[in-house]
Amino acid sequence: MKITADQLRNLYLDFFKSKGHAVISGASLIPENDPTVLFTTAGMHPLVPYLMGKMPHPAGTRLTDVQKCVRTGDIDEVGDSAHLTFFEMLGNWSLNDYFKKEAISWSFEFLTTKLGFSPDQLSVTVFRGEEGIPADEEAVAIWKSLGIPEERIYRLPREDNWWGPAGETGPCGPDTEMFIDTGKPACGPDCRPGCHCGKFIEIWNDVFMQFNKTAEGKFEPLGRHNVDTGMGVERTICMMNGLDTVYDTDVFAPIMAKIRELSGKEAFETPEDVRSSRVVADHMRTATFILGDQKGGVTPGNVGANYVLRRLIRSAVRHARRLGIAPGFTEKMAAVIVDEYKHVYPELDQNRERVFQELLAEETRFGKTLDEGKREFDKTVAGIRRKNEFMGAKDPNYVPDTQISGKQAFRLYDTYGYPLEMTQELAKEAGFTVDVAGYQECFKAHQELSRANVGSAKSGLAEHSEETTALHTATHLLHKALKIVLGDHCNQKGSNITAERLRLDFTHGEKMTPEQIKAVEDLVNEQIKADLPVYRDMMTLEEARAAGATALFSSKYTDEKLSVYTIGKTRDDFFSKEVCTGPHVEHTGVLGHFKIKKEESSSAGVRRIKAVLERPAQ
Ligand code: SER
Repeated sequence: MKITADQLRNLYLDFFKSKGHAVISGASLIPENDPTVLFTTAGMHPLVPYLMGKMPHPAGTRLTDVQKCVRTGDIDEVGDSAHLTFFEMLGNWSLNDYFKKEAISWSFEFLTTKLGFSPDQLSVTVFRGEEGIPADEEAVAIWKSLGIPEERIYRLPREDNWWGPAGETGPCGPDTEMFIDTGKPACGPDCRPGCHCGKFIEIWNDVFMQFNKTAEGKFEPLGRHNVDTGMGVERTICMMNGLDTVYDTDVFAPIMAKIRELSGKEAFETPEDVRSSRVVADHMRTATFILGDQKGGVTPGNVGANYVLRRLIRSAVRHARRLGIAPGFTEKMAAVIVDEYKHVYPELDQNRERVFQELLAEETRFGKTLDEGKREFDKTVAGIRRKNEFMGAKDPNYVPDTQISGKQAFRLYDTYGYPLEMTQELAKEAGFTVDVAGYQECFKAHQELSRANVGSAKSGLAEHSEETTALHTATHLLHKALKIVLGDHCNQKGSNITAERLRLDFTHGEKMTPEQIKAVEDLVNEQIKADLPVYRDMMTLEEARAAGATALFSSKYTDEKLSVYTIGKTRDDFFSKEVCTGPHVEHTGVLGHFKIKKEESSSAGVRRIKAVLERPAQ
């Protein structure tokens, strides 16, 4: 069946709506209360507190959405036919509501009646059990009752059929994965779903989240039976349309067309050019989504999420140069991406200017570095030539050196962003070669370092610790206090919370005076002293706005229920009211003493505050 991404999203959400699910807005790409992750990696990620049963979800116990996800673990693989750093995940959830029977039956019904797959094309895998956790015979029986024969049900170990936790601890459980048999011949006697030969393509994953992995590594019953499912949009439309790569799908069509136009080529012929065009397409899409996110606050930089963003943009710039694309292309690419996706993700359009500005600034900065690198390269070559002349004049048997050393090539990469192949191309033009083995040695050592850097904020479970919850509530108080002291123009532009501190970016044109800082601190501390209750109510965005709540985003679904947190004597006589996913403390008295540690510029017209809660030792 031929299908576009738009059609697939609508089919999916409508189908689960018809099964009693509330269609909710996908969350920000930047995790709300989770210092242990850089980006949202799966649809379940923003739902962790609800999966854990910490509080009811405002929209109910059956949810469905399309979630923007970024996974950068495979950033170096991008350019092959399947790896993407950004993708959209369709999902449906049961929060302690329905369980395996409904989840599997609906997956089967959707695949066969809505996507038009024949039951004969379907193979499934289930958890085969291990010590302490039984095999998922219940899932086997359900698949059989739907007509999937024993020989197409594969019982596999934990490596294949267990999902989560997203990080070290948290909700997880056995899953059942659905694969489409493409009809290609098996690659060997061991070929089965999960094999990478291309015969079986995974289309959907139903996770039965009944367990909680503890910090000690034990699997405890969660005391709840949740369902968490995930279907990748790009991969599914690729397969349904019989295409070889995700880059041939309709979501990439305008992006690839723009890359061809900018490079002046009708098609990319060599494998290197094909790879470069895919890297530009993937990385520009991811960078545009990160910069255009509703929560914002991530700009190109040297640590954590900022570093990932910088790496994506710089890699795109390098590959674009390879393809002969002129500077200033990042903005042009982003314009195509924003226009293509804005009907699904309106935040991209709302943040259009910011996206363009940040991209252009980073492209320009990096362009300068690349030019410096070229000068450095020319200097290196000139130095070797001088050495050759000098030595040759002294010794007629001297064999001229025509190699750029591994160390020099790596320096070009590390300091000036030159990938090996670019240095090789330059070297070739100058009649030189590059010591590739030496380069690779240096590269490996560096990669281990940079992994440690990216990995330091482990991809992981939302850590809703007491500290982050308290700092989150303090952020609401601070946001409001800024509006009172400096003016209503102070809108939150980004927030980031670790166990130690909060960080709030907000719109304001000038440096705060010491008096203003003191006034804001005092105002926040007054609210803490008053020990105000924190109320949580569920309402639509329109109702929330009517009640005077601040909302940092727009909801696409007008009937969607959201959480509104009110901090005040009563729900009507309040200090702060914000639409927010939470969680928050129950009353402000527990927050301790609020102190602003730093007030600085974040970008043009945006200030940044770092603040802490000084709390008596527990
Ligand atoms: N969380 C599961 C996954 O990422 C199902 O959505 O595959």
